[in-house]
Amino acid sequence: MTVLVTGGAGYIGSHTVVQLIAQGSQVVVLDNLCNSNPEVFNRIEDIIGVQPTFVEGDIRDRECLDSIFSTYSIDSVIHFAGLKAVGESSQIPLNYYQNNVHGTLVLCEAMAAADVKKLIFSSSATVYGEDAPVPYEETMPRGKTSNPYGTSKAMVEQILTDLCKSDPEWSVTLLRYFNPIGAHPSGCIGEDPKGIPNNLMPFISQVAVGKRKELSIFGNDYPTTDGTCERDYLHVMDLADGHVSALSALEYNGVHIYNLGTGNGLSVLAMVNSFMDVTGVDVPYSFADRRDGDLPAFWADASKAEKELGWSATRTLDQMMEDTWRWQSNNPNGYDG
Ligand code: NAD
Ligand code: UFG
Repeated sequence: MTVLVTGGAGYIGSHTVVQLIAQGSQVVVLDNLCNSNPEVFNRIEDIIGVQPTFVEGDIRDRECLDSIFSTYSIDSVIHFAGLKAVGESSQIPLNYYQNNVHGTLVLCEAMAAADVKKLIFSSSATVYGEDAPVPYEETMPRGKTSNPYGTSKAMVEQILTDLCKSDPEWSVTLLRYFNPIGAHPSGCIGEDPKGIPNNLMPFISQVAVGKRKELSIFGNDYPTTDGTCERDYLHVMDLADGHVSALSALEYNGVHIYNLGTGNGLSVLAMVNSFMDVTGVDVPYSFADRRDGDLPAFWADASKAEKELGWSATRTLDQMMEDTWRWQSNNPNGYDG
């Protein structure tokens, strides 16, 4: 089986490529490298012995897509490519809609023309919106999103749903990720954000490795166990395995939605303390104002993926911390050394 992985040079994509190759798939990666580094392919080879086929290009480039579909015998597509910085999406919304929404439209048009109608899409827990009760269940309606990034994910979910209604040959899985962290246990690949990290775990590990002075914890007056926000953090290798499981189930036509999370919420303070306990490295922090747009607490009801895909997150919080630290301490500057 040959899988086209858009955005396969990125954080979640690269871990998924490793698991796809390990399970016996042929992989073609399409990535424009706007948020990734081609060194990742050498690292994938170090882990698994081979590199995926790599096409440097953009999902919005129809000719490039047509050429991929006519060159390789693609069976299905896993679509990670897109922009993902929540704060930035409010500053440059058109770029977000261009990449995430228009890009997906071009991809689907090219797929339809090539008669490839199996797609897995990277969605997000953010589509449940601001007012959904926790834990989030797939049967809940999409809610009010608070930034263009979240809205772009909700729009694509709707577009793909309409597409499946119009043509029963399509089989689309919407995977709603919660908070992926960690890295491959080899320490060869991991999260390599450009500039100042927006997300908690890379910020913690960059403080630990001495690249940043201290962590600001955004808000300690939330109505949670210790006043800091709670999220459902899952190991990126579990998330990668979730794609492999979803791929084997793709023969069922129509739209299928799965939460990929652990089902447990953990606070920011619990994450910092766990990192320090597991690694023995100090992470200085101070409390700062709440960050705009943050919700106090959310986590997944992850039972549907377990029941229907046979998938559940199995890696522990300690593994998430150990693997994050192995990656960060072996590669203080990410793929640049
Ligand atoms: P990432 O930025 O590391 O990976 C995305 C990849 O897509 C990058 O390699 C980038 O170069 C590529 N890309 C972007 N626009 C492109 C385009 N127009 N054409 C071709 N390639 C393009 O991000 P990630 O964390 O691996 O996230 C992957 C997907 O999962 C994204 O769609 C993201 O929105 C979604 N997601 C991520 C999280 C998270 O916490 N990381 C949570 C929920 C959903
Ligand atoms: N946080 C800090 N300090 C930091 C960074 C984050 O205290 O320097 C806190 C945030 O305030 C939040 C928690 O850590 O309470 C987690 O923040 P992240 O930015 O790591 O993750 P989010 O839950 O805000 O967002 C992530 C992805 C989104 C996705 C969402 C739901 O970035 O793309 O999970 O899946 F939509």
